[in-house]
Amino acid sequence: MSILSETALAGRTIAVTGAARGIGAGITQAILEAGGHVALLDLDANAAAETAKRLDPDGGRTVAITADVTDPASLDAAVAATIERFGALHGWVNNAGIVRMGPAAAITPEGWDFELRVNAGGVMLGAQAAWRAFAGRGGAIVNIASNAGKVGFGNMAAYNASKAAVINLTRSLAGEWAADGINVNAVCPGSVATPMLREVAAELERDGLGDAATLFAGMVPAQLKRHVEPVEVGRVVAFLLSDAAVIIRGQSINIDGGETPY
Ligand SMILES: NC(=O)c1ccc[n+]([C@@H]2O[C@H](COP(=O)([O-])OP(=O)(O)OC[C@H]3O[C@@H](n4cnc5c(N)ncnc54)[C@H](O)[C@@H]3O)[C@@H](O)[C@H]2O)c1
Repeated sequence: MSILSETALAGRTIAVTGAARGIGAGITQAILEAGGHVALLDLDANAAAETAKRLDPDGGRTVAITADVTDPASLDAAVAATIERFGALHGWVNNAGIVRMGPAAAITPEGWDFELRVNAGGVMLGAQAAWRAFAGRGGAIVNIASNAGKVGFGNMAAYNASKAAVINLTRSLAGEWAADGINVNAVCPGSVATPMLREVAAELERDGLGDAATLFAGMVPAQLKRHVEPVEVGRVVAFLLSDAAVIIRGQSINIDGGETPY
């Protein structure tokens, strides 16, 4: 059930990176529930267009755009396409991310750079694209970090570090851009039922750590006793994009069914 009214984001256009599937699709659904418009930015433009069609069948409130969060020019082009379609941009969600499983001792310089470039660098470049697009008129940015950035889970050291960077970057930007009328917050999801979580289970099976289906089923927060659903993350993100959240700044809020007590 939505935690916002059907008009909380009416008249607002929000860009969501990595919106083709998983949490990004859940965020798109929640913004639409709250009356907003969404630009679905993703490397996979076809999948983004299919998600847009599923969530917004008549196409009046969504646009799917190819974008790579590691490429500032592609983000600026996506902003231009969004403004051409909907007239303005009011919010930005840095959701796109990747994970590579494996022991810390085996991480290569290339592997480290790739995870940090997409997960932390992509948030920085996305935030800068939003800052340029807001053009002094203010706006809201929500970054999708992870409880991994607080806990430091095994077999994903580069991912953990990239998400810790997102948590700290959120504080830096919230402070520095408050004067520009930009509110910046983050969320830290736990085990959300998405293709990424299934890929994590498959990579652990590849490394001989068990059967993928059993591993996936076991990744549920103990107190919640089920995976978090993408739209549940989306609804908290939609709240943080709304005017109701102007009193919340620079925070990184766990959405993990009680898994992380800090
Ligand atoms: N699934 C979880 O349990 C979980 C938990 C905590 C945090 N997160 C974070 O939530 C975010 C979304 O995760 P998900 O589980 O939905 O992942 P996912 O793999 O299911 O979807 C990620 C999407 O991002 C897109 N993407 C990847 N690299 C991109 C790039 N360079 N530019 C643009 N788009 C790109 C992919 O095409 C894909 O559509 C990620 O930042 C992830 O780290 C996920």
